[in-house]
Amino acid sequence: MSQPTPNIESVLHEERVFPPPEDFSSRALIGSMQEYERLWQEAHDAPEEFWARMAEELHWFKRWDTVLKWEPPHAEWFVGGRLNISYNCLDRHLETWRRNKAAIIWEGEPGEQRTLTYGQLHAQVCRFANVLKREGVTKGDRVALYMPLIPELAISMLACARIGATHSVIFGGFSTQALIDRINDAGCKLVVTADGGYRRGSEIKLKPAVDEALKETPSVKGCIVVRRTGTRINMQAGRDYWWHELMETVSANCPAEELESEHPLYILYTSGTTGKPKGILHTTAGYLLQTHLTTKWIFDLRDEDLYWCTADIGWVTGHSYVVYGPLSNGATALMYEGAPNYPEADRFWDIIERHRVSIFYTAPTAIRAFIKWGEHWPLRHDLSSLRLLGTVGEPINPEAWMWYREIIGKARCPIVDTWWQTETGAIMISPLPGATPAKPGSATRPLPGIEVDVMTRAGQPVGEGEGGYLVIKRPWPSMLRTIWGDDERYRKQYWSEIPGVYFAGDGARRDQDGYFWIMGRVDDVINVSGHRLGTAEVESALVSHEAVAEAAVVARPDEIKGSAIVAFVTLEGSHKSSDELKETLRRHVTKEIGALARPDEIRFTDALPKTRSGKIMRRLLREIASSGSVAGDTTTLEDFSVLEKLRADEE
Ligand code: WTA
Repeated sequence: MSQPTPNIESVLHEERVFPPPEDFSSRALIGSMQEYERLWQEAHDAPEEFWARMAEELHWFKRWDTVLKWEPPHAEWFVGGRLNISYNCLDRHLETWRRNKAAIIWEGEPGEQRTLTYGQLHAQVCRFANVLKREGVTKGDRVALYMPLIPELAISMLACARIGATHSVIFGGFSTQALIDRINDAGCKLVVTADGGYRRGSEIKLKPAVDEALKETPSVKGCIVVRRTGTRINMQAGRDYWWHELMETVSANCPAEELESEHPLYILYTSGTTGKPKGILHTTAGYLLQTHLTTKWIFDLRDEDLYWCTADIGWVTGHSYVVYGPLSNGATALMYEGAPNYPEADRFWDIIERHRVSIFYTAPTAIRAFIKWGEHWPLRHDLSSLRLLGTVGEPINPEAWMWYREIIGKARCPIVDTWWQTETGAIMISPLPGATPAKPGSATRPLPGIEVDVMTRAGQPVGEGEGGYLVIKRPWPSMLRTIWGDDERYRKQYWSEIPGVYFAGDGARRDQDGYFWIMGRVDDVINVSGHRLGTAEVESALVSHEAVAEAAVVARPDEIKGSAIVAFVTLEGSHKSSDELKETLRRHVTKEIGALARPDEIRFTDALPKTRSGKIMRRLLREIASSGSVAGDTTTLEDFSVLEKLRADEE
């Protein structure tokens, strides 16, 4: 079996190779393939010794006794050790010249700026940690953070980590129902939010969604609100408090708790193949170690860099590469609150020019949008401060890669295409910019300590150039520990699909140079603008509307977003299809999940194509959504007339 499923046939053939520029390599932290190979081999031969040696870089209150306890599929790393990630990100730098170095340079969408040095950030974090304690939050409690991209979000995360509370950041683009589900699943005690934030020139209110949600979240005892926009909001006496008022009442002295290596650091929800999002659990030491190392290696960090990762902190990229990775390295991280095209399509280039950003990490979907908006926008800015570019979130098509290289990087800057997932916690496959010759569209080779492979469904490695399933063969320090409250799902989803290895859910192939080419998801998860969405989540949102009997959601390729969402919907008896109803359903999904899940297209149909056993044949719907016809196998289809109707509806 060489092609495990028809949808992971590999079609991309890209021959171009771009070695790192010499002057980059000569100054780089890891400056040659030999050095990379040496590290990789060392980790391969003696993984525990390798990770132990790397862990010396962190600050420990107490050193570990055992590097790894591996009882598949459960891993514990650095057992017996004690540390604090907030201490590693802040206190450690205060004893050095970095005390007065900028930790965060923040720019709001309307244009205001704030800079926090390590000393100032530390003081804010200590204060907010004291606020949390005063509100009754103790070690092990969960705190929900539902905020725009403002420094207070990073401060809240670090404050939670400081006292051993587990944070659960909920992306500000999610709406009430998504908020309720996530708060209840984790049993959060407190919510930290803001009145609102800014996006594309408009104020996006957050507090009203929290007010709605808190009617159905019995575990929540209080709500702290940052005043960001100044809009009028409802403050419920005895429950809601202003951030700025509470911060006045506490001291800036709050020693970091000495936490066990495996202390739960955060839960972050991500989409899976069922309607219920998965609470991915990350713990302290292993997560810190790998985010620390990968940030240093892959972004080749130097003290004089200004590093900018454009991700929202609501996603894992923001957790690992806006907050924890850069701060633990003592870097200066730029944060920008808003949209890339506000007030005009050159906001990012304007920011790079004004602040002299040197490392820029963004998503392929953003790059495709820049291409569409036109190269005159970046060309009008001085981008000479840039020295390194990165991408994450989805496969980057070679043409977008070339545009990024030529127009933004002026053929000078290496590009790191980084593959990883919420579950992996840190980057797993990526070029090292001073070492790895890049091929447009390939995430290249796994990092030292990471053993990946491409296999058939039966667990056989596939041959060179053949498509298969991407797997990880050994536990790694920043791996997810479980799914919050559902360990059975953790076992099934990740460690049972192909026995004995971690199943990533992506298709991939490996070429003759050992380079990995990621081909996208192989399950019912779609990637819209680099954001993961389960088709089942959108379906259950649709079905929760009274007019809808049944819904099937599939992806169709989209030039900018990667995938567009197409929903096939059958209606309850008395409801009639209409454009108004389409709009109503779109709004309904936005209300239930958030605008990111809003279907691009809704098609009403009398029936959905099903197998004899009643399973919806999504493959056929995908074909209809993207090409309008069906070429694949239809032998298991129950009712052929359905296909005819679906096709007819399109005309
Ligand atoms: C996809 C984001 C190709 C992949 C960090 C993965 C990528 C999912 C890449 C995880 C890349 C991420 N090339 N595909 N460089 N990076 N992906 O959990 O399908 O939001 O499984 O984490 O994004 O998405 P998540």
